[in-house]
Amino acid sequence: MSTALQRLQDLEPSTQEFRDAVLAGLSGIPKTLPCKFFYDAEGSRLFDQICELPEYYPTRTELKLLADKSAEIAGLIGRRARLVEFGSGAGVKIRLLLNALDRPAAYVPVDISRDHLMMAAADLARDFPALQIAPICADYTKPFALPAPASLHPEITVGFFPGSTIGNFTPAEARGFLARARRLLGPGSAMVVGVDLRKDAAILVPAYDDAAGVTAAFNLNLLVRINRELDGTFDLEQFTHEARWNDAEGRIEMHLVSRRDQEVRVGSARFAFRAGETIHTENSHKYTLDQFRALAVEAGYRPRAAWTDAAGLFSVHMLDA
Ligand SMILES: C[S@@+](CC[C@H](N)C(=O)[O-])C[C@H]1O[C@@H](n2cnc3c(N)ncnc32)[C@H](O)[C@@H]1O
Repeated sequence: MSTALQRLQDLEPSTQEFRDAVLAGLSGIPKTLPCKFFYDAEGSRLFDQICELPEYYPTRTELKLLADKSAEIAGLIGRRARLVEFGSGAGVKIRLLLNALDRPAAYVPVDISRDHLMMAAADLARDFPALQIAPICADYTKPFALPAPASLHPEITVGFFPGSTIGNFTPAEARGFLARARRLLGPGSAMVVGVDLRKDAAILVPAYDDAAGVTAAFNLNLLVRINRELDGTFDLEQFTHEARWNDAEGRIEMHLVSRRDQEVRVGSARFAFRAGETIHTENSHKYTLDQFRALAVEAGYRPRAAWTDAAGLFSVHMLDA
């Protein structure tokens, strides 16, 4: 393994945090669960499969957009950048920037899914031996600090938040996240964000409810995780995956629908479900270019550039912090 790969800063949420969030979410009306807990090792593996699905246009569209525009983006960023990626996952998209950038100094991948993060960081360290890589396992909605640059002093720090993961936040949460990221990255920094665009529900719904059932397995895996880690009694046969377009909120919602009246235990807590009642597990907000630019301005950024694919499916924004 390359020496440029630094020791993991491990701020993985504890089992107690997971339990508290699950008990609070299942006690609410309506019932909810935070989507960040999708990503155990199996959830990350399933998400990587989702990225390959024919219905899931965001990944291939953003990858092509980044590939087409990487030289332009790299030109705007300049030399010796330190890149901080929020929700870095398999670390595929960052490679396009790293290949285009002039002597990138450091890469800080931040992800809640520890094993997946370490595998991706090790792969990158092999392929980019001159790059300082400082992985952080953390919930990026909670405070954490960036490591001091090891030896190469970066000229600019750039946040990278691809995958339209920002759509998992409500607009108010997205503003809060962007404002905190701006303070974390520091003065003179920039942010590159992938944002899925508003489009017909006939394209959106299948992207979150594929024919092969991979997204259903991804959604249901949250219940598997609760059963395993929190002593839960969810019967997977008694819940089904559903993707809904909520036009008023401009978002796809993922739900787990109870097939019948039933009671589920999580540890010693008991939760009653009516037939048809749902657990709301994820939001994916969709924006127009102008809506997202306005949100970024409210979070304290100056929009610098935005790129979209020819079909107008997806956008990548560069924001000055
Ligand atoms: C939708 S996937 C996107 C992955 C990758 N960036 C891409 O564009 O394909 C979301 C990623 O963010 C991570 N993630 C989700 N919520 C998180 C949180 N609150 N804190 C840190 N990482 C999180 C997941 O583990 C996953 O790798």
